Amino acid sequence: MEKREQLYEGKAKKVFATDDPKYCIVSYKDSATAFNGLKKGEIHDKGMINNRVTNHLMRLLAAAGIPTHYVEELSPRETLVKKVDIIPLEVIVRNIAAGSLSKRLGIPEGTKLKRTVLEYSYKNDDLGDPMVNDYHILAMEYATEEELKTIAGYALRINELLSDYLRDLHIELIDFKLEFGKTAGGEIVLADEISPDTCRFWDSVTHKKLDKDRFRQDLGGVEDAYKEILRRLLGE
Ligand code: TMP
Repeated sequence: MEKREQLYEGKAKKVFATDDPKYCIVSYKDSATAFNGLKKGEIHDKGMINNRVTNHLMRLLAAAGIPTHYVEELSPRETLVKKVDIIPLEVIVRNIAAGSLSKRLGIPEGTKLKRTVLEYSYKNDDLGDPMVNDYHILAMEYATEEELKTIAGYALRINELLSDYLRDLHIELIDFKLEFGKTAGGEIVLADEISPDTCRFWDSVTHKKLDKDRFRQDLGGVEDAYKEILRRLLGE
């Protein structure tokens, strides 16, 4: 497939058209942002690591029956994906309190939640991705009732699959963010990325943070944390 014009540039990725309208090429950047773009930086090799980690996890999920947009890794930073209309929701799954949940509800970071928590944010940078519930989603028609049911089911199943897989690598899956898209044929598929940018990964033994919180919170060792995730997942 041939790479054509750039369709979109986001904070962490660029998307290019191909000569086939059913497919796009995603190119991962080293740039990092936090707090809705207020904090900016570069994380050396992040684009390569997030591309490879995302593809590894998407292949694992696809093998377990979750439909995804993944088609083929083209290079260390570039991947061929199915073209989808992104559903304008950030789907957040939480197992352990951290980040905005800890702040909002006053629950100490690291507290195990009695049940998995599912949250949605409306994807809109100008509004700061506000949290919404099922009623907002249906009233504003961000998704239909059937789509939302599918998305929630996939998100919870993905949590089980990833938590089990990562546990064996001594990584605790604290929380993560997913995005879903709709293909031309109307199928809901997992899209975007699953990487240390979009998940909280803690070492199960030392509880050391191995994700973008090192950048958000100026903890140092950002690049080493991303490399450690690549090493544990892909063995290098
Ligand atoms: P939060 O605790 O800041 O709400 O983040 C929850 C999870 O979602 C965490 O794993 C980081 C991820 N996340 C994103 O991928 N993109 C975002 O813009 C935000 C705010 C969080």
